Amino acid sequence: MSTTPIIAVQEVTKLYGTQKALDGVSFTVEEPGVVGLLGPNGAGKSTLMKILCGYLSPSSGQAAVCGFDTCAQAMEVRRRVGYLPEHNPLYEDMYVREYLTFTGELYGLDGLKPRVEAVLEQVGFGSESHKRIGALSKGYRQRVGLAQALLPDPDVLILDEPTTGLDPNQIEEIRGLLRQMGQRKTLILSTHIMQEAQAVCGRIILLNKGHRVADAPTSQLLHGQGGACLEVEFAAPLDAMRREALENLPFVARVTGQDTVYRLYLKPEAEAAPAAGDPRAALFQWAVSGSLTIVTLRQETDSLEDVFHSLTQNTPSGL
Ligand SMILES: Nc1ncnc2c1ncn2[C@@H]1O[C@H](COP(=O)(O)OP(=O)(O)OP(=O)(O)O)[C@@H](O)[C@H]1O
Ligand SMILES: [Mg+2]
Repeated sequence: MSTTPIIAVQEVTKLYGTQKALDGVSFTVEEPGVVGLLGPNGAGKSTLMKILCGYLSPSSGQAAVCGFDTCAQAMEVRRRVGYLPEHNPLYEDMYVREYLTFTGELYGLDGLKPRVEAVLEQVGFGSESHKRIGALSKGYRQRVGLAQALLPDPDVLILDEPTTGLDPNQIEEIRGLLRQMGQRKTLILSTHIMQEAQAVCGRIILLNKGHRVADAPTSQLLHGQGGACLEVEFAAPLDAMRREALENLPFVARVTGQDTVYRLYLKPEAEAAPAAGDPRAALFQWAVSGSLTIVTLRQETDSLEDVFHSLTQNTPSGL
């Protein structure tokens, strides 16, 4: 059975003059969820988002949302997509409710009054909602943009750095809202906060210099880059024979370090389902049987930040 993907991007290239902002990017999104679009400054994230919303045409390749071509059927696409742009243009002279009602009328929405109140509540507007947009702080302006994107209750939300400028309490609330919406809707969001991507996104697409350099479920991305490791410190330096024995432990894939401090990279199967028990316990037993003393032992996993660095630094473009 073949169903229309929610989002289909095929070999999309975007040139600004002679500069390639996107270079042959392809991916599909087949099911609801939160997809994180990550990448260094200038990687092409905002450009891709504008193309997905039908606000920008690709120089070559195609993009489709809900089966509609973002170029040829841009109006159909815009009806189905809520978009929070990176630099959200707002009418400074309008009051918050007035502005949201105005944009709702542009979408042709019915039952606007309760809908406006509902989105104001969702984005945590509180007592600021009676103000003029020009009088709002940065974080509250961001909330107006989010409220506007949510207003038509679209199936697809494209949010360019949605939590920028929000205070830590509000960031937590908005992340909760994004996770919750991701259960029913398709969200593509960009962020520079790796912690946020890790906490909210089920899948991550990483762009670097206009190329897609990774596209995987977040958990897979975190475990595919060398995986979990144990950092162990012995009371005394290991001799060459002991170090070799460490490397030959059944759950160890690779060892780095010297003298007293070593990092043991675990074999994926040991990490996922430790058949012979917890590798930390096995390591302790091995040390005891060899009359070695372990003074510290820490389990570490790659953070998304490590993955980001390793895939976007010194990466030849075109990977
Ligand atoms: N309107 C434009 N005219 C010319 N070049 C542009 C334009 N918009 C973007 N670019 C260039 O395209 C490249 C990708 O920009 P884009 O804004 O998509 O990056 P980004 O990944 O969103 O970066 P950031 O993390 O800084 O928001 C950059 O080199 C940028 O300078
Ligand atoms: Mg951007």
